[in-house]
Amino acid sequence: MGDYPVEPITHVWADSGTGSFTEQKRYVVETQTKVIERCMLMTTDPGDLVLDPTCGSGTTAYVAEKWGRRWITCDTSRVAITLAKQRLMTASFDYFALRYPHEGLKGGFIYKTVPHVTLKSIANNPGD
Ligand SMILES: C[S@@+](CC[C@H](N)C(=O)[O-])C[C@H]1O[C@@H](n2cnc3c(N)ncnc32)[C@H](O)[C@@H]1O
Repeated sequence: MGDYPVEPITHVWADSGTGSFTEQKRYVVETQTKVIERCMLMTTDPGDLVLDPTCGSGTTAYVAEKWGRRWITCDTSRVAITLAKQRLMTASFDYFALRYPHEGLKGGFIYKTVPHVTLKSIANNPGD
């Protein structure tokens, strides 16, 4: 990353395949959290309602909860529901501050900030 910790996401997601760099699966057909997360962040806002009618191990609900979306999920399998329930009940999530407190959830959250390094700031050396 070096001094430029931001890069645009293109239509080729080379970082989302399964392999030694991704998280361990707990369910045989589990979708990567990273993929669901990216789709959800592109298509919904905090407070929106997300439906996954095929819950599986609950990745959609987990990601929705993590990013401040409401969710509904269901499954025909008792095994899936039990796994998802256990996963959600034992998860811990980060706390995000509201970006515009007077607007509530619709104003969005402050998720992450990165330093804006310019030639001017390097010349002025404000860090010391
Ligand atoms: C591919 S997994 C779900 C993956 C999950 N949506 C995710 O993103 O990780 C498919 C799930 O769909 C469930 N399923 C299959 N047919 C269904 C149906 N008609 N209604 C609800 N769930 C169903 C299966 O029990 C299984 O748990």
